[in-house]
Amino acid sequence: MINIIFIGAPGSGKGTQAELIKRDFNISHISTGDMFRENISNNTELGKTAKSFMDKGELVPDEITIKMLNERISADDCKKGFMLDGYPRTVEQAKALDEMLKKLNIKLSAIIHLHTSDEIIIKRLLNRARADDNEATIKNRLQVFKNQSEPVLDYYKSSVKIIKVKSVGNPDDVHAVISKELKSL
Ligand code: AP5
Repeated sequence: MINIIFIGAPGSGKGTQAELIKRDFNISHISTGDMFRENISNNTELGKTAKSFMDKGELVPDEITIKMLNERISADDCKKGFMLDGYPRTVEQAKALDEMLKKLNIKLSAIIHLHTSDEIIIKRLLNRARADDNEATIKNRLQVFKNQSEPVLDYYKSSVKIIKVKSVGNPDDVHAVISKELKSL
């Protein structure tokens, strides 16, 4: 069973690669961004709060995100293995995840760190044009990643295997690299 975390800047390809891994390994794909967007579409209170942060490219506060993720990761389908896409994004979230996984008696297999240049990211996201894909918000999301999410890599460096993958070129080629790494775990 594999339990992995995707860490990477916005637009680095976390969601794209997670869907390809899901196809091959049949494990659950948990994206906190998708969970927030679903709440926004359903007009829930959580969605309304999340939207006010997402529109600015800021992180949704830890207490909201941690509670939502803890509930999701306790669901039965996660017992077959999971990929976390976009979580943890702060050291506080990483600490909360460690605690939760300890309770559930689950071990992380690896972290896939996807990286590419800011120029490629900006081009990809402007081309996708999601609600939060305008230039000002993208730039803020990149800054937030550097300030708040990169320290998560440091937090895990001595406890979990970190696999650094360059996320450029054809998504299938990037997938082949990740898949090979996961098969050798
Ligand atoms: P989230 O939905 O997680 O967005 P993100 O991290 O900004 O990531 P993206 O979806 O933009 O990029 P991705 O890396 O998944 O790339 P993708 O595969 O989609 O979060 C949105 C917001 O929600 C956050 O800003 C925050 O407000 C909030 N949030 C979420 N999680 C949170 C948390 N834990 N704590 C607090 N707040 C949280 O690809 C992007 C585009 O590039 C696509 O069009 C794709 O087709 C294309 N692409 C991908 N790979 C390639 C390739 N190799 N070549 C060419 N194009 C490619």
